[in-house]
Amino acid sequence: MEKRKLVINYTEYSSKEDLPAEDAALLAKAEEMTRCSYAPYSEFHVGAALRMADGEVFSGANQENAAFPSGLCAERTTLYYAAAQRPDEPMDAIAITAEYKGGVPQGTVTPCGACRQAMAQYESKFRRPIKVILGGSRILVFESVADLLPFVFDSI
Ligand code: THU
Repeated sequence: MEKRKLVINYTEYSSKEDLPAEDAALLAKAEEMTRCSYAPYSEFHVGAALRMADGEVFSGANQENAAFPSGLCAERTTLYYAAAQRPDEPMDAIAITAEYKGGVPQGTVTPCGACRQAMAQYESKFRRPIKVILGGSRILVFESVADLLPFVFDSI
């Protein structure tokens, strides 16, 4: 038996302005997309923007439904639309943020486990890391989805 430790690398930015310009623009697009969220139940308006390897940007927002499980997160709305439009184009980076009760949520807007799994699938499909830019009052950047989802399910 051996106890092991896992180290997760990420970068914290004190302000959006410190991000590289193309990542700042992606986060700005995700912020804009919070306005397209349909979240009458949670009132948590999530926006996502996905940059493809060739620079094309797709974006989306969470869509809720009276039958709760029928709703979908902003990340998967965006990822699945992009993958359906550009099935052969690798993904480069995704920015995620939210608006809650008129402002930026305290802390960092982190993707749920199901969205991490969905992002990881495209990372594995294209064998190329997807940068994850997380908004909020504390901006975090992960160079790969693998850093956000260690021991990912990847058996089939
Ligand atoms: N939500 C997202 O859009 N992305 C996540 O990663 C976590 C949660 C949405 C789902 C629901 O509409 C609302 O946020 C509250 O959970």
